[in-house]
Amino acid sequence: MRVTVIPGDGIGKEVMEAAMLILRNLDLPFEYTWMEAGDEALKKYGKALPEETLNECLKSDAVLFGAAGETAADVIVRLRFELETFANIRPAKSFKGVKCLYDNVDIVIVRENTECLYKGLEFEVADGIAQGIRVITEKGSERIAKFAFELARREGRKKVTALHKANVMKKTCGLFRNVCRRVAERYPDIEFNDYYIDAACMYLVMNPLKFDVILTTNMFGDIVSDLAAGLVGGLGLAPSANIGEKHAIFEPVHGSAPDIAGKGIANPSAMILTACMMLKHFGYVEEAKRVEKALESVIAENKTTPDLGGNLKTMEMAEEVIKKLEQT
Ligand code: NAI
Ligand code: MG
Repeated sequence: MRVTVIPGDGIGKEVMEAAMLILRNLDLPFEYTWMEAGDEALKKYGKALPEETLNECLKSDAVLFGAAGETAADVIVRLRFELETFANIRPAKSFKGVKCLYDNVDIVIVRENTECLYKGLEFEVADGIAQGIRVITEKGSERIAKFAFELARREGRKKVTALHKANVMKKTCGLFRNVCRRVAERYPDIEFNDYYIDAACMYLVMNPLKFDVILTTNMFGDIVSDLAAGLVGGLGLAPSANIGEKHAIFEPVHGSAPDIAGKGIANPSAMILTACMMLKHFGYVEEAKRVEKALESVIAENKTTPDLGGNLKTMEMAEEVIKKLEQT
């Protein structure tokens, strides 16, 4: 299995080192190729996503990505488009020992990853007037809706909730909502409903337990996944997978976190859980579960980085996970 490893910028590099420590400890038949992309690559090579990096990603079975900084749109958003990873899966699950608003949150966000305002079709049409084009297609909406229902079935989940703003964006969100409703009819075993995105944000904060699988468009998915991360302890705990027909990119939800970068205190959990999503994708389910369990106990024992109230450094927390793995 060929994996392109792109640590990127800021804490991306720090959490990647931690996740790689654990992956290497598992001793699986992965061949890792380290490549550069991000703000630093832009400075060095004049390109945030150098051709060699993109080509390597296209040739590999998966990409393991840390985080980019200000160049995120030119790196990770572009990579998702180039590799046609149309589905972004972002779980938000409560951890024992992490003080949050609620104890039993278990939500998976399925975000469309190739359309919407993030296509980057933005223009300055006149002095002082900028315009952005939102692209939503029937094909893209159908593909992601089907993906969400299949995920629900596969994971034994009961309900899919589509989020949109079809009362205002009548054409784009209207199309998305209608396609979701139509696809839902083919899955009578899975409950379906849809909400306006603004109301859904309130419901998420007031009663997240009414959500199971969330299905939404690209930008709403970006926003709502940070909100969901906040419900379970923050971005330090939020992993994600970008899945396409041919390619897959695994990356934490967070960015390069310049406010804490260089201090060695970034929470490696999101990146470690991201690596677990990659392991499951390749069928190493038992290994992934072992790592998740080890990480859960480390968190429950409060052997964590400062964002979760502990006083460990990034690599110290990773070492604790290794210790737990060795005990099992
Ligand atoms: P961010 O996700 O980097 O940080 C938001 C907040 O969460 C910060 O206070 C940060 O310290 C905290 N945080 C994030 N990850 C953490 C971790 N693992 N452990 C502990 N605390 C953590 O988002 P922000 O600040 O909006 O953006 C910073 C830079 O990252 C920007 O240049 C942005 O463009 C880029 N970015 C890149 C992304 C990517 O590469 N996928 C995604 C989001 C932002
Ligand atoms: Mg985001």
